[in-house]
Amino acid sequence: MFADRVLSGMRPTGSLHLGHYHGVLQNWVKMQHEFECLFFVADWHALTTHYDAPQIIEQSVWDMVVDWLAAGVDPAHATLFIQSKVPEHAELHLLLSMITPLGWLERMPTYKDQQAKLVEKDLSTYGFLGYPLLQSADILIYRATQVPVGEDQVPHIEFTREIARRFNHLYGRDPGFAEKAEAAVKKLGGKKGRLYQELRTRFQQQGDAEALESAKALLDEQQSLSLGDRERLFGYLEGGGKMILSEPQSMLTAASRMPGLDGQKMSKSYNNTITLREDEVGVAKKIRTMPTDPARVRRTDPGDPEKCPVWALHQIYSSEQTRQSVMQGCKSAGIGCIECKQPVIDAVLDEQRPMRERAQLYLDDPSLVRNIIADGNEKARKLARETMRDVREAMGLSYS
Ligand code: TRP
Ligand code: SF4
Repeated sequence: MFADRVLSGMRPTGSLHLGHYHGVLQNWVKMQHEFECLFFVADWHALTTHYDAPQIIEQSVWDMVVDWLAAGVDPAHATLFIQSKVPEHAELHLLLSMITPLGWLERMPTYKDQQAKLVEKDLSTYGFLGYPLLQSADILIYRATQVPVGEDQVPHIEFTREIARRFNHLYGRDPGFAEKAEAAVKKLGGKKGRLYQELRTRFQQQGDAEALESAKALLDEQQSLSLGDRERLFGYLEGGGKMILSEPQSMLTAASRMPGLDGQKMSKSYNNTITLREDEVGVAKKIRTMPTDPARVRRTDPGDPEKCPVWALHQIYSSEQTRQSVMQGCKSAGIGCIECKQPVIDAVLDEQRPMRERAQLYLDDPSLVRNIIADGNEKARKLARETMRDVREAMGLSYS
């Protein structure tokens, strides 16, 4: 419960492209070796916007898992699962909905933004309004400490923290809590006990976040505390109650600079993508037909790489040496555009080759993918059940 646990999800609404690879998946692959990681397919989240196209979701779920595996996400290191196969997410979502002020949801920037962006869809639905709360349930049910997300999602993580705080505040008080917590402070010993109290006061009276962090670090070091006392002391720091749900941090993924085929950011909605496992002929064709500096009408016209989307790809894929010869060759009309594009084509194909190979294994035997997910579902569900036991108990729902 106190070690870092990373959780992230992706909506299955179409094939993944190289923008996802450079922006998100490479990061997942790296993190799976550094933290306990849970990655899931957010199929219910996809339904909030694609409720009229469930076939797309169904197909994309499996394609997406193959894409993850192709990119190097390793089921031996990370737990991969599907949201709807862990129905406890829905139960927690429902229970949290009881304490979620409507205004908090209505004020989410993504709510109005997405409605404005997807005008062709009617998103004045109950499900869509609740999107961030479903996300909170995803996160809180695993007591995730770190959530890697893009910038647009940061308000959802902040909202999740507020929900967790509100929940703990409402339900985290058992009778005699303060007395029990004070008794636990004594068990820390005189010096550490005083330090804990001092840090707690500094946080509670002055909102000193550093004091809070130091106090948490102090508790993390105490090996001899019982689990109950430890939890009590963590809860006592931030309020009067037990921490039943823990507040996650967002882990900002560096904004993907992955340019698309037209120089804009690579995105399905701009129709400028190369998919993760796109076939080789298709990749070569897409790059060969990319627009270039419009000033280079004829082969003999000099050009300016800064005005060319191909140059943006050289920034990602080419060595310093190649870039220099492109820069020089373009400006002097020493090279043609087809020639200039070839190293980019080669580099993209090189990057994709191991992905295509890994994917082939799973395409040849889809039961491998089903088994990976079945395993992941089971692991995730076990963790989710533990949290739900505490939540039900706290909310007075543990009759038997
Ligand atoms: N809303 C996220 C997105 O659009 C997907 C998501 C759903 C998610 N649940 C999550 C991300 C929980 C992180 C944690 O990208
Ligand atoms: Fe773009 Fe390269 Fe052609 Fe210059 S030579 S315009 S950089 S494709």
